[in-house]
Amino acid sequence: MPLVGYGTRVYRGREREGTLTLLDAVRTALRAGCRLLDCSPDYGTQPEVGEALCQTFKAHETQRERLFIVSSLSIEVANHGDVSEVSTHVNESIQQLHCDYLDLLLLPYIMDEQRHIAAWKAMEVLLSEGVVRHIGVGGFPLSSLKALCEDPTLTCQPAVCQLEHHPFYRPDSLVEFCGERRIQLLANTPLGRPALSRPPGQNPLKEPLIEMSSTALECSPAQIALRWAVQQGVAVIPNSLCRTHILENADLHSFTLAPFRIEVLHEMAAVRNMSFTDGSSVRNGEERAPYTLEEIRAHGFVYDDGGTLIAPGSPYEYLQLTIDVFERLDLSDVPELALAPREIDGAFPGMDVEPIECDEEITNEQP
Ligand SMILES: NC(=O)c1ccc[n+]([C@@H]2O[C@H](COP(=O)([O-])OP(=O)(O)OC[C@H]3O[C@@H](n4cnc5c(N)ncnc54)[C@H](OP(=O)(O)O)[C@@H]3O)[C@@H](O)[C@H]2O)c1
Repeated sequence: MPLVGYGTRVYRGREREGTLTLLDAVRTALRAGCRLLDCSPDYGTQPEVGEALCQTFKAHETQRERLFIVSSLSIEVANHGDVSEVSTHVNESIQQLHCDYLDLLLLPYIMDEQRHIAAWKAMEVLLSEGVVRHIGVGGFPLSSLKALCEDPTLTCQPAVCQLEHHPFYRPDSLVEFCGERRIQLLANTPLGRPALSRPPGQNPLKEPLIEMSSTALECSPAQIALRWAVQQGVAVIPNSLCRTHILENADLHSFTLAPFRIEVLHEMAAVRNMSFTDGSSVRNGEERAPYTLEEIRAHGFVYDDGGTLIAPGSPYEYLQLTIDVFERLDLSDVPELALAPREIDGAFPGMDVEPIECDEEITNEQP
């Protein structure tokens, strides 16, 4: 599996003057050498990503076999776990993405072990039919991943675990378990979502230790964060609509982090322990929060079920905050959450960039 990828989830309000459309951003990422695309029907962007792939193939800029295309079951379909519904749903994703098959299908975490098992069995059918080449999980906590791996009625364990992983957050026990089981890690949020203009203490890319490494190695803070993951064998899928950022995020092979720099970043992740996707940064109070529950309430945030906020601290709330908070807030109306200024476009190297050869073997077999 390629380790350097591009994430295709775009938060509403991010497309501004001077940024690329997602279609152009995907094409730029592919030209820059990214060979892995992380997609999901729940991101609502698969048709646009598919159009980008279609244009890329037509222009003979790359071939399907060179790419590693990831998609996921929607939360709704995963909850039903019905074999024929899963099959129809995945085939729809494949059609939208113009990709004939998926290299990896992920099961999103739905907080119900029995439903995980049912959905996994439906995914195993697609694996045996060759509709998908590998199956894995996304957003699973360790206990649920263990339960899935140890279920005797399943024929294979996950090949890949997508997880939140950035210099302010590295779930060590999950990372260790996946290492023991030879489950490949795929880091979502690998930059810690720096676009919201948070105070420096909440933005990994403004962290002095990262800035020091970036000065010393003459690269950007984002490249330090991404290289830290890739050098541990963790695949990364940063999202960006900025050409300069996309190019630098794909260029991770011109420098190496010395072991002490890796250690420092491990230490930082352990000390910060600041998840930006499970809602804990909200729950744990204003000091650490990029946004507070009050701010969210004040800006008309409601949940998918049409109700008001569910009791703070419930697992459901965590999930909903993850899914909804960026999409439901109109960031342009919230000055303190305004987006960071865009960088100016840099020179575009086009097809001169060599594809990045940096792969890890993955398998769905039991260890
Ligand atoms: N399945 C899940 O539950 C789940 C959850 C979260 C994420 N994901 C996946 O992970 C991908 C990435 O997650 P994410 O977008 O939440 O977080 P992220 O990649 O950590 O952060 C994205 C933000 O970083 C900025 N950025 C990108 N490159 C930069 C650079 N070189 N320097 C400075 N800023 C930079 C981008 O703004 P610009 O556009 O200005 O560059 C964007 O706002 C998603 O697209 C999705 O594929 C999956």
